[in-house]
Amino acid sequence: MKTNGEVSASLAEWLAENELPSHDTIWTSPSWQIAVRRKLMKWFRREARDLPWRHDVTPYRVWISEIMLQQTQVATVIEFYRRFMKSFPTVKDLAEASEQSVLSHWEGLGYYRRARSLHAAARKIMDEHDGEFPTSYPEVLALPGIGRYTAGAILSISQNQKLPILEGNTQRVFSRWIASRSPVSDRQAIKLLWKLAETALPSRQSGIFNQAAMELGALICRPASPSCDQCPVGSHCQAKRLGLQDEIPGKIKKLEYEDRIEFAFVVSEDATSFARENSRYLIRRLPEGGRWAGLWDFPRTTEQNYQKVEDACRGLRTEVGLPIEFKNQLLTIRHAVTRFRIQLNVFSAELKIDLSDSEGKKGSAMRRAPRPWRFATLMEMSELPMSVTGRKIARHLESRD
Ligand code: ADE
Repeated sequence: MKTNGEVSASLAEWLAENELPSHDTIWTSPSWQIAVRRKLMKWFRREARDLPWRHDVTPYRVWISEIMLQQTQVATVIEFYRRFMKSFPTVKDLAEASEQSVLSHWEGLGYYRRARSLHAAARKIMDEHDGEFPTSYPEVLALPGIGRYTAGAILSISQNQKLPILEGNTQRVFSRWIASRSPVSDRQAIKLLWKLAETALPSRQSGIFNQAAMELGALICRPASPSCDQCPVGSHCQAKRLGLQDEIPGKIKKLEYEDRIEFAFVVSEDATSFARENSRYLIRRLPEGGRWAGLWDFPRTTEQNYQKVEDACRGLRTEVGLPIEFKNQLLTIRHAVTRFRIQLNVFSAELKIDLSDSEGKKGSAMRRAPRPWRFATLMEMSELPMSVTGRKIARHLESRD
């Protein structure tokens, strides 16, 4: 019979085979695992936040919440989740929606690739699984936008399948439990934490354990100033024992930002009606493969590094194929995308041709704006999914009316 301190043969082999970062091996002890599981899950049953995706738990509902929660705070996700579920209550509703409609529901959450992958996955579930969200791990993992973490979260939370998870919160929580000082960008440290996540799982109610570990990271074991005195598993935590909670996990090297200047142009279809209620402006859907693909935006420079508005405007003229002339600077927007810190200078601009057709009729302008460009009013833009800065420009124009 195994005693409490004994490590199972396969885990002992795994430890021997891997060159792991310095840490406390207490997690390999079944008595530690049992105590941590019991206390953590008891705490979660008492303290769990009442969140919309924790009701009527289905793989579909967990999937949507987990994708939204990647890179986005719980408080922000709640309203987006409610609205999304109201419009797309089932996989079928999501699959049958247009990509524009799905992106519109995502506007403000950022990282739009997540929304496009959700849509593609819903269509795949209709085609390959008769509209039923699959419940086998390899099938879930094969869906677009779903990796090891999300597949584990969906199937453990909705089905109690014994699958581990590891994301931002649990990386920090587990690193502290075992006093691993490596930054979580370290590959060997990640491997160790996945093994811990797997070993610590209970045979039943894995979904509760996984949610409890994430909840502990969100509420108690926070990145800065963790509330160790309120921690249900504080007496089992090696970082707390050693007073290292503020140093763990080790710091990841800070991203070096690069400053960039970009230009956007508000091109009015008709120079005489700039910033009027029915003014129409040049916009386009951004192409696949680039920044904010699928969203609508005013013409702006992204790839080319122009320093002067004259050069940016010349480049735009060539790109759109219309004689655009810039006028006045309207506003400056500062924002960051990946490693770029961008100063976006927004200018008003005019077309130097009469867009009325040869018979003098207005209304042919749309035909003259070569695809993918079109002219749209601010009202029409309010119905389109737009890039973050595109929406800021549209709001600025609305406020000038
Ligand atoms: N963060 C990401 N997913 C979560 C979940 N299911 N519970 C708590 N925090 C989370």
